[in-house]
Order: sequence, then C-alpha cells, then structure tokens
Amino acid sequence: MFSLSLSLSLSMFSLNAAVMSYKCLPLKKPEKKLIHLVLHAIALILGIIGIYTAFKFHNESNIANLYSLHSWLGIGVIVLYGIQWIYGFLIFFYPGGTMTIRSESLPWHVLFGIFVYILAVGTATLGYLEKLTFLQNSGLAKYGAEAFLVNFTAIITVLFGVFVFLTILSQPPQEDEHSYSAI
Ligand code: HEM
Ligand code: HEM
Repeated sequence: MFSLSLSLSLSMFSLNAAVMSYKCLPLKKPEKKLIHLVLHAIALILGIIGIYTAFKFHNESNIANLYSLHSWLGIGVIVLYGIQWIYGFLIFFYPGGTMTIRSESLPWHVLFGIFVYILAVGTATLGYLEKLTFLQNSGLAKYGAEAFLVNFTAIITVLFGVFVFLTILSQPPQEDEHSYSAI
C-alpha cells in the first residue's frame, strides 16, 4: 500500500510539473516541449506502476478488484492519459503532424489535457476519502491527527490543482536571449 501511495503521489507531482512547464520555465519552446513530454512520460509510468501495485496488493490479500468508483475513474484516467500522451507525441514531437493538423489539434490537446488533469485530481481525492474511511472503520479516531493529515493532504491536492489550472490560463513568459539557461 505504501508503494501504491508513493508512486501515485509522485505521478501526480510529475503531472503537475509537466502541465506547468510551458508557463513556468524561462526556456525556449523546444526545451519546454521536451520537459513537458518527459515529465508526462514519468507521470504515466509511475501511474501505471501505482495501479499495478494496487492490483498486486489486492490479489495477494484476496481483496476484490475494481469495485469502487475511485478504481473505475482511476482506470479511466490512466487510459485517457495514455491516449493523450501517444497522440501528443505523434503529432507534436515524432514523426510530427502537418502544420494544419498541429494547429487544429492543439486547442483539443489543451482542453483534453485539462479534462484529464481535473479527473486525476478528483480521482486522487476519492482515493484519500476511501483510504481514510477504511482506516476509520477499523478504529482510527474520526477527529484524530491522522484523519486531519489525510483530509488536509486531499485539500492541498485540490488547491494545488486550482493553481495549476490558473497557470494554464496565464500568459507564457516572453522568449528572449537573456533568459536563464544552463551554463
Ligand atoms: C490519480 C491518482 C490515482 C489513480 C489513477 C488511482 C487508481 C486506482 C485503481 C485503478 C485502483 C484499483 C486497483 C484494484 O482494483 O485492484 C485503486 C485502488 C485504490 N486506491 Fe487509488 N488511484 C489514485 C490515487 C490514490 C490515492 C491518492 C489514494 C489515497 C491514499 C488511493 C487509494 C486507493 C485505495 C485505498 C485503493 C484500494 C481500494 C479500491 O480498489 O478502491 N488512490 N486506485
Ligand atoms: C498525457 C499527457 C499530456 C497532457 C495531460 C498534456 C496537457 C497539456 C496541457 C494542459 C497543455 C497546455 C499548457 C499551457 O498552455 O500552459 C499542453 C500544451 C502542449 N502540449 Fe501537452 N500534454 C500531454 C502530452 C504531450 C506530449 C507527449 C507532447 C509532445 C510533444 C505534448 C505537446 C504539447 C504542446 C506542443 C503544447 C502547446 C504549448 C504551447 O505552445 O502553448 N503534450 N499539454
């Protein structure tokens, strides 16, 4: 269960960074594109590892698979995320679509990306709710420190999501020759 939470948390962390990379890094477009692509790949791989670990844990402990809304949305998130990554890679990176396909795809890529992102945040909060409910049903204090910690972690996930969303709406930094770059 620890590796499940760890890899899914790290996956959300990379996802946040990947979505914000275009707006927060004072670098040239091709570098930002590469960072965006690689961070999304890391998030996707960690997400798959996290879900694999969840199934492994369930199977080894004789717990049923895929019975919760959280798990259904989780499968939806990872499938849509994989499709979004493959489409983005093929059209915007390699082999790359024609200019028309790129420019017509981009608004859809951004819209779909925002949708998958919000769904991932929602899924994660349901995961926290479910985990805490299990713990509270097995005796954890309802207003105890652990319960507060889990709920606040979920609230921080949501608040962070709001700021990531605002970052997407913001204007990108101007590209210039004087920006920071690797020495
Ligand atoms: C976007 C991130 C997440 C995704 C995509 C995701 C996906 C999944 C999936 C597909 C399962 C089903 C595994 C099975 O049926 O064998 C699952 C189970 C579970 N997840 Fe998550 N999860 C995420 C985040 C979290 C978080 C943050 C927690 C909180 C600690 C969590 C807690 C759980 C628990 C307790 C289970 C077992 C119960 C169940 O199957 O509903 N998950 N998750
Ligand atoms: C699941 C994976 C992905 C998600 C969720 C995603 C999501 C997003 C989002 C939300 C934006 C808007 C960012 C902003 O305007 O600040 C964006 C922009 C963009 N993404 Fe992705 N993306 C993914 C994968 C990829 C891949 C693999 C590529 C391939 C290079 C790519 C190429 C681009 C490009 C070129 C832009 C436009 C940047 C601009 O000029 O404003 N994306 N993506």
